[in-house]
Amino acid sequence: MSLPKNSKTKENPSRREFVKTSALVVSSAALASGASLARAAHISGDDEIKIALVGCGGRGTGAAAQALRTEGKVKLWAMADAFLPKVTNTLQRLERDLEEDQAAEQPNALTAAIDVPPERQFAGFDAYQKAIDSGVDLVIFAAPPGFRPLQFEAAIAADKHVFMEKPLAVDAPGVRRVLAANEEAKKKGLAVGVGLQRHHQQGYIDTIKRLKDGAIGEILMTKVYWNGAGVWVRTRADFASAYGHKPTEMEYQVNNWYYFNWLCGDHINEQHIHNLDVSNWLKDAYPVTASGMGGRQVRKGKDHGQIFDHHFVEFTYADGSTMMSQCRHIPGCASKVDEYAIGTAGKSHIGDYEISPETGGNWKYEGKRVDPYQQEHHDMFAAIRRGDKYNEADNGARSTMTSILGRMATYSGKIVAWDEAINSQIDLSPAKYDFAADSPVMPNAKGKYPVPVPGKSKVV
Ligand SMILES: NC(=O)c1ccc[n+]([C@@H]2O[C@H](COP(=O)([O-])OP(=O)(O)OC[C@H]3O[C@@H](n4cnc5c(N)ncnc54)[C@H](O)[C@@H]3O)[C@@H](O)[C@H]2O)c1
Repeated sequence: MSLPKNSKTKENPSRREFVKTSALVVSSAALASGASLARAAHISGDDEIKIALVGCGGRGTGAAAQALRTEGKVKLWAMADAFLPKVTNTLQRLERDLEEDQAAEQPNALTAAIDVPPERQFAGFDAYQKAIDSGVDLVIFAAPPGFRPLQFEAAIAADKHVFMEKPLAVDAPGVRRVLAANEEAKKKGLAVGVGLQRHHQQGYIDTIKRLKDGAIGEILMTKVYWNGAGVWVRTRADFASAYGHKPTEMEYQVNNWYYFNWLCGDHINEQHIHNLDVSNWLKDAYPVTASGMGGRQVRKGKDHGQIFDHHFVEFTYADGSTMMSQCRHIPGCASKVDEYAIGTAGKSHIGDYEISPETGGNWKYEGKRVDPYQQEHHDMFAAIRRGDKYNEADNGARSTMTSILGRMATYSGKIVAWDEAINSQIDLSPAKYDFAADSPVMPNAKGKYPVPVPGKSKVV
């Protein structure tokens, strides 16, 4: 078995291809780059890069493995999670997979190392800070997005390079905090990667470039989708069997985080951000208004917290063009995760890397397909080693704000403007990060949580 992969999509190449691709990226970029930034965290060429992983779940495990597979010396040095067994289980898995890779003489894996003794395994709400302070150069953040602003701020204050998963926040104050901390990151010359991996997928890169170059004229409309069956549910009983005690309300919510807005921001934020971000990328802009509708048709169980199971949003950009967005988490319905564009002179199935102009014949990307989850790490680590500027957080924060704007529209039933949305003072975070404290939303006597009601709920 090889190191864990998160992507099971059309983009999965072989390990040999990763290694070859990364070598090409490094050598051509090294030739191209002249400039080097003064860095707070100086790393050059073949220096060892020590990393910490914060959030040892599915994606964190994948991201750490991908960081360890990049060219050059990388050492996993510290790990942090809300719950200690997540740290120890993930560590065991990574160590086992690394050994197997090394036994199979995977050339890239031989450069990677794992050295996370018990004194650098951290648990609890302050674990992220201990991991940041453990002597690392770079921190990977893959905890639920409600924690991202706080954790990102701390890493930048401590002069660390960062790779952080999308989305970057769950509310407007969180987006503003990320943008502000990122100004500091840029001043300090720190690299910041964001897990919107389509930006590292050559098919998307080439398709978007051609569309921006006018392949189908002016873009009038985009259509974006994340329709699927939904995700896991983690009950109180699941928590007790995993961690050996009945959870407090706060422990329960942090573990079953997908269903609580202060942790997740609803699935329009959590997953659909990928597709909204593709439209923003194509438009080189963020929407100025949103209106939409949504609700919970089947997501009604007591472990379903407060989020909707469907949203439909019409976003408008400043040039009058629109983005039609749908996302659904309902089993048994048609699935679709994709993006399209319609222009004055043709159309494009962006997610299939295909462009159909009215005249001149179809174009389709036929190049190599590499795993974008791996590629984003190759690109970031290579940039750090070259001393190049590398920062994806402004776009990550604004695409996060796009999905929050969409949620504000569906929760309120109102037309919501970007300016009022991003200036909203509604802060979803808890008064206190303490597993014994109340959560920002508490269950009623029947164990149910408040669910937004369009026409009534206040969102800005
Ligand atoms: N780029 C992608 O395509 C992609 C794919 C999957 C997940 N993700 C993102 O990765 C993040 C994590 O998702 P996941 O699927 O791994 O979830 P997960 O539940 O498997 O993992 C989250 C982990 O964070 C831990 N955690 C909770 N609170 C914490 C805290 N305060 N400090 C440290 N750790 C904490 C949890 O205990 C858990 O182990 C999400 O933001 C998600 O959107 C991105």
